[in-house]
Amino acid sequence: MQQALTLLNGLTPAQFMAEYWQKKPLLIRGAMPDFQGLLDPEELAGLACDSEVPARLIQFDPDRAQTGDGWQVRQGPFDDDDFTALPAQYWTLLVQGMNHVLPEAQALLSLFNFIPTARLDDVMVSYAPTGGGVGPHIDSYDVFLLQGAGKRRWRISQQTDLRLIPEAPLRILSHFVSEQEWVLEPGDMLYLPPNVAHWGIAEDDDCMTYSIGFRAPAARELAIEFLDECRQNGLPDALYRDPDLQPVVDPAEVDVNMVNNVADMLRRLPWQTEQLGPFLAKYFSEPKAYVVFSPNRKLSLEKFSQRLAQQGVVMDLQTQMLHWQGQYFINGESVQAPAEGAPLLNAFANHRQLEPAICQGETVVSLLPWLHEMYLSGYVHLAENAA
Ligand code: SIN
Ligand code: CO
Repeated sequence: MQQALTLLNGLTPAQFMAEYWQKKPLLIRGAMPDFQGLLDPEELAGLACDSEVPARLIQFDPDRAQTGDGWQVRQGPFDDDDFTALPAQYWTLLVQGMNHVLPEAQALLSLFNFIPTARLDDVMVSYAPTGGGVGPHIDSYDVFLLQGAGKRRWRISQQTDLRLIPEAPLRILSHFVSEQEWVLEPGDMLYLPPNVAHWGIAEDDDCMTYSIGFRAPAARELAIEFLDECRQNGLPDALYRDPDLQPVVDPAEVDVNMVNNVADMLRRLPWQTEQLGPFLAKYFSEPKAYVVFSPNRKLSLEKFSQRLAQQGVVMDLQTQMLHWQGQYFINGESVQAPAEGAPLLNAFANHRQLEPAICQGETVVSLLPWLHEMYLSGYVHLAENAA
């Protein structure tokens, strides 16, 4: 709790949520007083050369930053030549999914455990030399912008003018009017709700910013995904019925009775808590498109059980596990385990690990076949083999 208090400017998570979460920006000086970052620019560039994590290089010409062709965006993976060819200023490297490759980024994320995992997007890290940044923009995310090394000037605005620079290769506001600005130093953090316009500019040559992002899914996205889930897993297939049909004089008309009958049919779509709960747990636990799991070395169930008792088990950094009312989902798949395993599954889902002492107990027995299967598919690892 003490950590959460520093992190949130002396506010408890409940106070932060009541006053700021999804409502207004909050600048937190010294949110993590000793924070200097988790990696240096060379290590970040190294990860951007690794195809597993999405990386972008964004470059602009300061004299033409108001026009679309003043901006250039390249997608990774990169190689050394891409970096040596860069100018001294006005570019930035962004690497997403850092929590999937860096245990320290996963640990950083765990400081935000007072926010549901289902809302989590990822940890992104940026590096920029002086003047670098991605231009003024809005995000559809709640984001905590934590400054690592160096300094960044943040300008923000609650403006409603969301016009974009035409034909720019990324979404940049063409009429940004700054209302507040601060220079963030290592350990300072800025919380922004979705749709607050912001513009971060590196103040020196080693500026690294950590964006801890929480997705705020659009109603349209959820509806499309839910209907797709219904399509795959059994929509009610009752036939259209009109036993009260009266003879019509305008047969080409789609009349109001037909509209009402179809509305009745659609109301029978399973928009109920019982279907939406498992759908959300499944959907939000699904891995992002770039995620690939590497199966672990084969071990018999017996051998696995012995090693589990000695070592304990940890989730792969890319694994996501969520639950709804006793139904568990891991990486978008339903967990096939007996109900008595629920307390352990709960602990595993929340802490991402089970200590050896727990794995020696009777309660783990019912989960052994499932844990073994998860181990083989690379969703979890024996603790010393943590990815
Ligand atoms: C950055 O770190 O440069 C960009 C973060 C953001 O504006 O969302
Ligand atoms: Co942003």
